[in-house]
Amino acid sequence: MKVKMEVDIGGLKLQNPVLTASGTFGSGQEYLPFIDLNRLGGVVVKGLTLLPKAGNPPPRLIETPSGLLNAIGLQNPGVDYFIENILPELTSYQTKFIVNISGNTPEEYGVLAQKLSVPGVAALEVNISCPNVKAGGLVFGTDPDLVAEVISVVKGHTNLPVIAKLSPNVTDIQEIARAAEEAGADAISLINTLLGMAIDVETRKPVLGNIVGGLSGPAIKPIALRMVWQVAQAVKIPIIGMGGIVSAQDALEFILAGANAIAIGTGNFINPRVTMEVIAGLEEYCQKTKTEDISHLVGLANPLKMR
Ligand SMILES: Cc1cc2nc3c(=O)[nH]c(=O)nc-3n(C[C@H](O)[C@H](O)[C@H](O)COP(=O)(O)O)c2cc1C
Repeated sequence: MKVKMEVDIGGLKLQNPVLTASGTFGSGQEYLPFIDLNRLGGVVVKGLTLLPKAGNPPPRLIETPSGLLNAIGLQNPGVDYFIENILPELTSYQTKFIVNISGNTPEEYGVLAQKLSVPGVAALEVNISCPNVKAGGLVFGTDPDLVAEVISVVKGHTNLPVIAKLSPNVTDIQEIARAAEEAGADAISLINTLLGMAIDVETRKPVLGNIVGGLSGPAIKPIALRMVWQVAQAVKIPIIGMGGIVSAQDALEFILAGANAIAIGTGNFINPRVTMEVIAGLEEYCQKTKTEDISHLVGLANPLKMR
C-alpha cells in the first residue's frame, strides 16, 4: 500500500512531516556525510539575526540526564551573509528550507522577513524566545501582546508562510498560541528549549558561560507533548511538534497529540541518521495499521483538538 506522506503546513507543502529543528542541523549540508537531504520533509536553518552574532562565552553545552543544556547565544553569520553565500548552495536540493529568525525589536523581525522573502526560502519560522530590547529585555514569547505584534509585523513584510515558534517558558501556552493565530500566523511550532542551569561542585560556579541555558532532548519530551496537546485544543492552524524526539514512536506520539508535522533537534547529535529512521518508521507504522494518509493520524489521541 502506498502511504500518502505529504503534508501542508499553512501553505508550506512538505513531502513528509519530518523536519530538523533550528540550531541543531546547521543549514543541512553539515549532515551530507550521513543522510540524503532530499528525503527530508524540510530543514529549519539555524537562527539568523540582522547582524552577525559571536554568541555567548564558553562553555556553551553540557549534557544532563537524558538532555542537553545549551547557551549558544544565537551565533550566526547574519542574514546578508546567509542570503549571499549559503542560500545559493541550498537550491539544488529537493527538500524545503525554512529559515528561523530572531530579532531584538519587532521592526528587526520585519526587516529580516523582507530580506528573506526570496526564492529558495520556503517559509519563515519566527523564534520569539528572544528578549525585546525596547521592552527592557522582556522575552517576546512570554507576552501575548508582544507575540501578536511580532507576528503581524512579520506577516506585513512577507508572503511566505509564517510559523510562530513558541517558548515553553510560560504559564499559559494556549493563550500565547491563540495570540499568534489571531495575529495571522500560518502555523505554530513548539517547543523551544526550557530554561535550566547546571553547577560545578569543584569550582562552585555555574557551568555555562551564560549561567543559564536551554534544556532539550528526551528529558523534555513529556512536557513538549503536553504542550502540543494543549495547543491543538486552542488553535486551528497546523502545528509542528518538537522536543526530545529520537524515534518514530516519539514522532507518532506528537502526531497523535495533534501535531501535523514534527521536528528533530538534539536527536541528530545522538544519531545523525535519526531523521531517515523516523521517516521510514512512520511509513512502516502507517502500512502496518492500514493508514492511507499520515494526516489521518493527527490528533487521534486528542478528542478536544480543534479541527
Ligand atoms: C544547540 C541548539 C541550538 C538551538 N538553536 C536554536 C535557534 O537558533 N533558534 C530556535 O528557534 N531554536 C533553537 N534551538 C531549539 C531547537 O530548535 C528545539 O526547539 C529544541 O531543542 C527542542 O527540540 P529537541 O529536544 O529535539 O532538540 C536550539 C537547540 C539546540 C540544542
